[in-house]
Amino acid sequence: MSTMIGHPLDRTDGLLKVTGEARYAAEFPEARLAHGVLVTSTIAKGSIASIDTSRASTLPGVLLVMTYQNAPRLPNGGRPALAPPAGRHLSLLQDNEIHYSNEPIAIVVADTLEHATDAARQLRITYAAQPPALDFTQAKSGAHAPDKPQGRQTDTSRGDYDAGLAAGVVRVDAVYTTPMEHHNPMEPHATMAVWDGPQLTLYDSTQGVTGTRTAVAKTLGMSPDDVRVISPFVGGGFGCKGSAWSHVVLCAMAAKQTGRPVRLALERPQMFGPVGGRPYTEQRLVIAAKRDGTLTAMRHDSFSNTSMIEDWTETCCMVTRMMYAVPNQVTTHRLVQLNVGTPTFMRAPGETTGSWALETAMDELSYELKMDPLALRLKNYAESDPQENKPWSSKALRQCYSVGAERFGWSRRTPQPRSMRDGNTLIGLGMGTATYPANRSEAAALARILPDGTAMVVSGTQDLGTGTYTVMTQVASDALGIAPENIRFGLGDSSLPKAPVSGGSQSVASVSPAVRDACDQVRGKLVAMALADHGSPVFGIAPDDVTVQNGWVMSRSDASTRDPIAAVLARAGGQPIEASISTKPGDEKQRYSFHSWGAVFAEVHVDADLGTIRVAKITGVYNVGRMLNVKTARSQLMGGLVWGIGAALEEGTVLDAQYGRFINANLAEYHVPANADVGTLDVVVLDEPDPFINSLGSRGIGEIGITGVVAAIGNAVYHASGVRVRDLPVTLDKVAMG
Ligand code: MOS
Repeated sequence: MSTMIGHPLDRTDGLLKVTGEARYAAEFPEARLAHGVLVTSTIAKGSIASIDTSRASTLPGVLLVMTYQNAPRLPNGGRPALAPPAGRHLSLLQDNEIHYSNEPIAIVVADTLEHATDAARQLRITYAAQPPALDFTQAKSGAHAPDKPQGRQTDTSRGDYDAGLAAGVVRVDAVYTTPMEHHNPMEPHATMAVWDGPQLTLYDSTQGVTGTRTAVAKTLGMSPDDVRVISPFVGGGFGCKGSAWSHVVLCAMAAKQTGRPVRLALERPQMFGPVGGRPYTEQRLVIAAKRDGTLTAMRHDSFSNTSMIEDWTETCCMVTRMMYAVPNQVTTHRLVQLNVGTPTFMRAPGETTGSWALETAMDELSYELKMDPLALRLKNYAESDPQENKPWSSKALRQCYSVGAERFGWSRRTPQPRSMRDGNTLIGLGMGTATYPANRSEAAALARILPDGTAMVVSGTQDLGTGTYTVMTQVASDALGIAPENIRFGLGDSSLPKAPVSGGSQSVASVSPAVRDACDQVRGKLVAMALADHGSPVFGIAPDDVTVQNGWVMSRSDASTRDPIAAVLARAGGQPIEASISTKPGDEKQRYSFHSWGAVFAEVHVDADLGTIRVAKITGVYNVGRMLNVKTARSQLMGGLVWGIGAALEEGTVLDAQYGRFINANLAEYHVPANADVGTLDVVVLDEPDPFINSLGSRGIGEIGITGVVAAIGNAVYHASGVRVRDLPVTLDKVAMG
């Protein structure tokens, strides 16, 4: 029925990007633009004793040096109770306290970036430092239970854990740790603030134009109607741009104070601390099973760090709660406070770290049982959600496992560690299960057919480089009967119909039904106009015989009876027609449990002497709802797998235990995979529509790609080398020394 849905259409914004025409937040031209530079703390705890701005203020071109001494006082100390996320504590120069190293303590504005940078270096700051809490193990004794992390239950318990433990004859009991990580999108955070009387326009690199508008308005005590956020292109977000951080508000404050538009782009080292990151996690897994592999009990206790000023929890136990049909289970989350910046959502927050621990522990169990790791998963396959006691909306994980095993050649695996070898190269095969919730929120869209027969469709959603422009153009094209090249899709502007944050992998599931419904409605108006129009060739034909295809209103049964869209509108006076729709989920979440699924298989090559690890091949097979575009979908999943290689083998931010600075706060020493680190990626998507999520059956696929793969790589390293590394990243020293 549909022609465009699923089609591997090239990115509609591709040409703009490769020609440099796509404008990112820091690239908008503005007359009288001034440049801001952020100054950050060099201690992790204490207060500013003195801050001498006298020299900096008199340097050439300097327009403003804003510190806690002269910053305008904000309502409620800059902490409105309702600014999202709830309880957000921004550093807005309202007092002299320091809670972490690299915390914003001043903003300097000048006529040029060079002048601002120079003046920022001339600030003379002294501190009253106190000993910071930086040792996780030490601070763990004071851990506390967070209140409803990400709206989920902090702890869960089902069945009788102790009885289940006693019923098992084989047991795994192990502790897994993951390091702090930072998002490092190619485009650093950047904001440009422009005031026009009481009205503020922000060009901001954000995953949520509406959320940023609300947060900034509430923090500054303004009406959201007076704030507009524009973000047509984002150079990667991955969660750090999912909420507005201090620099966004500081930029607006600086623009107000100077009476000039101000641009503030973070320097790469400033991406480590003030804008979130993945926290350190320490997870204990206990799994008990019968001799045949049937799970009898499972326990998952997760500790992760937060800052001193906010509770933010890496929800590591979410996957454990729903993945396997284990009757007796306990899960807990606890928070450890450190003098570091508040952590935040980082691609599949909780699912990445949690699925690594769970799927590693399952692998360990498979060796204890002398059972194939895949067979162990199938033995405990959850036919329904074991925690929520609901049927799945749709689950084709079994098919993911079987297709993946076949493509990957899982059957060539010999069970013993170190049993596969090619000369001095140890070959290892490992697998892991991928999953991520299939989320959907309320979203609105507007569709307008223009007098020339083209269409403009808009929604206040975002494109983080993921393909939103492209797939929404396809959905619109399909519903309107207008070719994609004749449709302009607009997004990234808070003045457009409201859509949710592009986080939680929800944009496709939320926005595509709104786009489709708005387009359906306006096409209905167009058809009604044509049918009632005596001048139209389609006048009077049966309504169910009418279709719109490739820009023509036409008869289905007789393709020669047709009328160009532009002609229909011209005869009616040449005015555009439009429809605006808001869509939201119904009660399906009460009835079904919504998740996406995948099976990941990895082959690694480990040097027998040196422990160097190479990922030779990864096969990932995914069940992520109906494909809107197989090309952008595969690209996104490949990106997730590359992230997984990074998390498994390379990434980790190193915290200086004395000063609380991140030692590798740059792209030379914060290692992410380069092309040479990525072997063959074989990504397959099962085109299985989810019958309950929305009218298209389409789910988001932003985050599932990084889940499961980290464990698959670690498990392959164990199979190759016989060394089980329980502390990420799995590096050669740990393997060679193991
Ligand atoms: Mo995602 S970590 O919700 O951007």
